[in-house]
Amino acid sequence: MGSVTFADSVVKDPPAKEVSRRSLLNLLLGLSLFSGLGGTIYTIFRYLWPSAAVQEAGSPGKETIIPLSEISVGEAKTVRHLGKPHIVIRLPQAVNALNAVYTHRGCIVYWDKDQKTIPCPCHDAFFDLNGNVLKGPPPSPLRKATAKIVGDKIVVT
Ligand code: FES
Repeated sequence: MGSVTFADSVVKDPPAKEVSRRSLLNLLLGLSLFSGLGGTIYTIFRYLWPSAAVQEAGSPGKETIIPLSEISVGEAKTVRHLGKPHIVIRLPQAVNALNAVYTHRGCIVYWDKDQKTIPCPCHDAFFDLNGNVLKGPPPSPLRKATAKIVGDKIVVT
């Protein structure tokens, strides 16, 4: 009859579940891709459909004044005018101000200085410098605001 030693009576822990290095890396990679993709999608949605707070922010008055030095000839700047984003385009002899919120689906158009057009990213539409439809589904042009150069300022009303 054998004797039981202390070492034989110690209950051993069950083997821990092994997490392989590969599965851990796959999990971390998946999480980082998921969070990065989520952030990108959220940013795109916020750009295309800005919140009411963003749309209402900006100039509360009837005039928006931009220093002339902020927009070179052939360039444009998006500013808030009466709570809405407007594209102010500086031409050689004048300035154009167009409401950048397009009514088709409310997307924000932007100035493409290389093509000298105003694309809408939502449905592949294009507008000219005066907001007229060049291509795409928009049934009407962009709304114009009055803009003029007064001394060293651009005044949008
Ligand atoms: S919302 Fe711009 S073309 Fe449809």
